[in-house]
Amino acid sequence: MDFFNYSDQTLNAENVALSDIAQQYGTPCYVYSRAAFESHYNAYADAFASHPTLICYAVKASSNIAILNVLARLGSGFDIVSVGELERVLRAGGDPSKVMFSGLGKQAHEMRRALEVGIHCFNVESEAELYRLNEVAGEMGKQAPVSLRVNPDVDAKTHPYISTGLKENKFGIDIKDAVRVYKVANSLPNLNVMGVDCHIGSQLTELKPFLDTFDRLIGLVDLLAEEGITIKHLDLGGGLGVRYRDEVPPKPADYAKLLLEKMADRDIALAFEPGRSIAANAAVLLTQVEFLKCMPHKNFAIIDGAMNDLIRPSLYSAWMDIVPVSLLPTPEGKRSYDLVGPVCETGDFLGKDRELDIQAGDLLAVRSAGAYGFTMSSNYNSRNRAAEVMVDDDQSHLIRARETIEHQLVGEQLLPE
Ligand code: LLP
Repeated sequence: MDFFNYSDQTLNAENVALSDIAQQYGTPCYVYSRAAFESHYNAYADAFASHPTLICYAVKASSNIAILNVLARLGSGFDIVSVGELERVLRAGGDPSKVMFSGLGKQAHEMRRALEVGIHCFNVESEAELYRLNEVAGEMGKQAPVSLRVNPDVDAKTHPYISTGLKENKFGIDIKDAVRVYKVANSLPNLNVMGVDCHIGSQLTELKPFLDTFDRLIGLVDLLAEEGITIKHLDLGGGLGVRYRDEVPPKPADYAKLLLEKMADRDIALAFEPGRSIAANAAVLLTQVEFLKCMPHKNFAIIDGAMNDLIRPSLYSAWMDIVPVSLLPTPEGKRSYDLVGPVCETGDFLGKDRELDIQAGDLLAVRSAGAYGFTMSSNYNSRNRAAEVMVDDDQSHLIRARETIEHQLVGEQLLPE
């Protein structure tokens, strides 16, 4: 289901016209749909309802506290990779006992805070990290719940920058070495072995790599049982893809059907860390055309959204759909445009060779921008980061004010005279 549809030739977010949002909050602006977040989260929750399963939304995909709060109200858990993300979850009313702490460089202070609030589990990525966690937990007189993030050496067949489950990647512990490292974890007095974890990559459009991973991890669970180590949960990470253009990614229900068949009557809980499949199609980036620059060999539409607002096209050559907010014809007629921002880099584009009927002042919506959009934005070229707005039926709410230069300068100071 799509929550961004046209009515009367104009694009809406749920029941609010995007042109009204642009007028009220300005551009560039991320516009989220509450109903979309809810429907994407519920697709997972419903699919796995028959089996004990923790759905931990990957905060890095889109981390505004209003978004986290909408998910927390549905009972979502959260996958975090820093203490900053943990504080966001807490501020949003998330339940710390449903938090998975992933990431390969956890610092002692981050471990301390996570132990203090009582998270569900640490996904540990190296032997050295086990020793650090054991020490921190010991100092606090606590037992730290741990899973090892295992690298199953499965090809996720996705963009090399977002593929993480091959043995040449920096992530996780080689599955061939996993039993030995589990024994180390089990021998450390302040650790409590809970689960097996993995994450093989992002924007996967087939289920086979997930199912192959599952088979390898279940094999590991059985080997561990022979060593007297009981695994209580299996965390299969995130990674389910979304449609940006014409991809046909599997649905959570398809994934659940095949996995739950494989689970048979095993007494192990499941966990997932979906980011993109919950957030991507829950937002658009709204931007305005500043100028058209038409030349014999090329046409540019210079827009007020740039690579600092949405870096996916520049960084991964990601194709994102860009549509006009108004479908009314313009005096310019249809032309092919490169949609470029004001940043001083040739790589500053959101789309290339797009057939559009637009004129200066028109609004455009970059679709599927809800995941790794705002969270990867920066102040490059000293541009203020965009506003974030959430639509709920026929209401819109500002959930992050557009930055000002004062926000940017907090903490900067001149040298003494
Ligand atoms: N769990 C872990 C440990 C992860 O590293 C990630 C994403 C996720 C879960 C969520 O994966 P998802 O369901 O979103 O695929 N910036 C890139 C994507 C980077 C993904 C990083 N890890 C992009 O814009 O395509």
